[in-house]
Amino acid sequence: MAGTIFLANLATMQPGLGAYGAIPRGALAIAGGRITWVGQAAALPPALRAGAAIHDLGEAWITPGLIDCHTHLVFAGERSAEYEARLGGISYEEAARAGRGILSTVSATRAADEAALLASAESRLARLLAEGVTTVEIKSGYGLTLPDELKMLRVARALGKRHGVRVRTTLLAAHAVPPEFAGRADAYVDHITADILPAALAEGLVDAVDAFAEAIAFSPSQTARVFAAAAAAGLRVKLHADQLSDGGGAALAASHRALSADHLEYASAAGITAMARAGTVAVMLPGAFATVGADQPPPVAGFRAAGVAMAVATDCNPGSSPMCSLLLAVNLACSLFRMTPEEALAGVTRNAAKALGLDGETGMLAPGLAAEFAAWPVGHPRELAYWMGGVSPLIINRK
Ligand code: NIG
Ligand code: FE
Repeated sequence: MAGTIFLANLATMQPGLGAYGAIPRGALAIAGGRITWVGQAAALPPALRAGAAIHDLGEAWITPGLIDCHTHLVFAGERSAEYEARLGGISYEEAARAGRGILSTVSATRAADEAALLASAESRLARLLAEGVTTVEIKSGYGLTLPDELKMLRVARALGKRHGVRVRTTLLAAHAVPPEFAGRADAYVDHITADILPAALAEGLVDAVDAFAEAIAFSPSQTARVFAAAAAAGLRVKLHADQLSDGGGAALAASHRALSADHLEYASAAGITAMARAGTVAVMLPGAFATVGADQPPPVAGFRAAGVAMAVATDCNPGSSPMCSLLLAVNLACSLFRMTPEEALAGVTRNAAKALGLDGETGMLAPGLAAEFAAWPVGHPRELAYWMGGVSPLIINRK
């Protein structure tokens, strides 16, 4: 099949090819939505060149399509008043306990219909897509009833269909204890495992299951019950872990072979070791770190030393991270967490794919993977981390 060839500098992000997996003056051949060949332009096989459409992008750099592996993109309303109050001195936990926090977004999201949720999420998704995002994970968790959780997940699926972006849906019914179950968190966990998860599965709405393990949310044993139900249904899990305190979340996630543990500001040394053994990806969320005014960054040096793969995501949500720029997350992961620009770029490509169970499908420029990439007007791939957002791709190729 005659395909298409792009000539440019390539940041393949393949491990083992040196920094950024770079191939200066490279060629990327695609056909039928897959990458068929990657290498130096001078080595391009003549048989591939024959009949192919050739686009010479000159000095541009091509990267894999960007992957935002942790978002709460579907929600109603906004929480700028809470943000202002927190700047005035109250903490994220105090706001949550006072009924602002997650539960205020739950009220707004329950009151919104699918059309309204879709329209507001589309405006945020557009900003991600304009930055070269080709895969986005979207969590439920602001419905907390069976119909409202399904409503959120249907909107997430609709976003993928309407915008040609790969959407991975995550059921986060264990995000907060809903008001109807106040003081009865265990009964709510029963409802999740007996009713919400099976219904979401039956409708084909769930790719993974997540929970918020924290003093203001779910205990380790409640989280483990949600994870056991997910495993019984054949689903992989993720965890909001050790964000505000060390609750043993990193080790808990690892013990369930979680795809990822996310936030991790307070992850312990034992948690890091367990994650390394389990192959659980550490997802860094600098937007939430900055917005809640946290003072302890996640143990990036510990993850690096232990060989834990690190991803970076926006955590786009109305409370702790009202951020719709994945490139800004990349920049902040470097400036606030001391990740290297190469680590941060791997964090929104190769390792973000792994955090979603999509390694082998996307996240690198390599033969056999989906033809998802962006070409950038930069002189070096580290520029994508250097600018504080605002770099626009010249070309974006989606699935
Ligand atoms: O990832 N930590 C829990 N969940 C979100 C915040 C949700 C909210 O405040 O609305 C997070 O930071
Ligand atoms: Fe989150």
